[in-house]
Amino acid sequence: MKYDIRNIKLATAGKMRINWAERQMNVLRLIRQRFRRERPLRGVRVAGCLHVTTESAVLIRTLKAGGASVVLCASNPLSTQDDTAAAIVRVDRIPVFAKKGEDRRSYYRHLNAALDTRPHVTMDDGADLVSLLHSSRKSLAGKIYGSTEETTTGVIRLRSLERKGLLRFPVMAVNDSRTKHYFDNRYGTGQSTIDGILRSTNILVAGKTVVVAGYGWCGKGVAARAHGLGANVIVTEVNPVRALEALLDGYRVMRMTEAASLGDIFVTVTGNTSIIGPAHVRRMKNGAIIGNSGHFDVEIDVRGMARIARRRYPVRPFLEAFELSSGRTIYLIAAGRLLNLAAAEGHPAAVMDMSFANQALAVEYLVKYHRQLKPQVYTLPDELDMTIARLKLASLGTSIDRLTPAQRAYLSAWELGT
Ligand code: ADE
Repeated sequence: MKYDIRNIKLATAGKMRINWAERQMNVLRLIRQRFRRERPLRGVRVAGCLHVTTESAVLIRTLKAGGASVVLCASNPLSTQDDTAAAIVRVDRIPVFAKKGEDRRSYYRHLNAALDTRPHVTMDDGADLVSLLHSSRKSLAGKIYGSTEETTTGVIRLRSLERKGLLRFPVMAVNDSRTKHYFDNRYGTGQSTIDGILRSTNILVAGKTVVVAGYGWCGKGVAARAHGLGANVIVTEVNPVRALEALLDGYRVMRMTEAASLGDIFVTVTGNTSIIGPAHVRRMKNGAIIGNSGHFDVEIDVRGMARIARRRYPVRPFLEAFELSSGRTIYLIAAGRLLNLAAAEGHPAAVMDMSFANQALAVEYLVKYHRQLKPQVYTLPDELDMTIARLKLASLGTSIDRLTPAQRAYLSAWELGT
């Protein structure tokens, strides 16, 4: 079996951590039990380009239990947990191509190694495999049943391919399931971003001013958790509806140029480019901390920061100082890469349970229906979303009411009024 990881000897540590994650992934465990019985993925080759974390390990184990042969590569050069990668190779006998801190060349070599297995289904977190399948690895696209996409940024890229009429196969936008983005993007990013800030800086958040750029589901989560720790939150937005939501949620809303001189901590979660650049950094207070939890490292102009810095040096793991000619020092977390996975462990397993239940069902759906599907971006059927929510509630020991026949009739009647 070919693989490329940092150190196979880390497998024991990785195995223990995967087992811990698995304990909190009850919905995925139920899906795995069914997959083991029904083997719906028998003979299917799956290539996953995901963050190589304990939670992703539980997902690919589930696909393997369903009969798939799986290969895994990283969806970000800094998010790989090297012990997890080792355990997946040694314990699960699944090939992994990923090393934490790999450079761009190694990153793409690993993606290509995963594609060399000629997958029927690809799973992306950021659309990098699909992007290769539409550029340098086009020859493989004809054999693909379809792909799944985990994140908002990836879905945006895929919809752009679809709009231009270039998409070659169906894609399931896992991100768009409600049991994914309501929970993973909001509570997952909210908690893991704070986790990454704390691990890399160990600062006290209470009383600080936290500037959150972007008030989508991720921004809502980060703002709520920062507020919960006692921060004063400022939100910056370009979308007037979201800006209004932030304002009525009780936060200050203003332009980044204004917020720049007020913030102690800045978090970008916009999914867009050049949110914080040198002009903002020059206005920042001495000691301000900047980090990004958006998918790509484009939100903070790190090169621009380096250009205006007279000195750049490491301070702690995943924290660098940029000393400006004004004498102020600004700190950057995880080189502007997604800090919740680079400086922490990503979202907790209990929330990834729902995201990856959607992934597992999306792979099954593609295998079952790919012949009927068009080269379009699809959302998983609503019943599956509801099933995942129901199973998650049950696993948390929570029961909910059911509609009575009279209530059902009331909802379907148009005659009843005042
Ligand atoms: N994305 C965010 N958190 C993650 C995690 N823990 N595992 C895989 N992908 C993630």
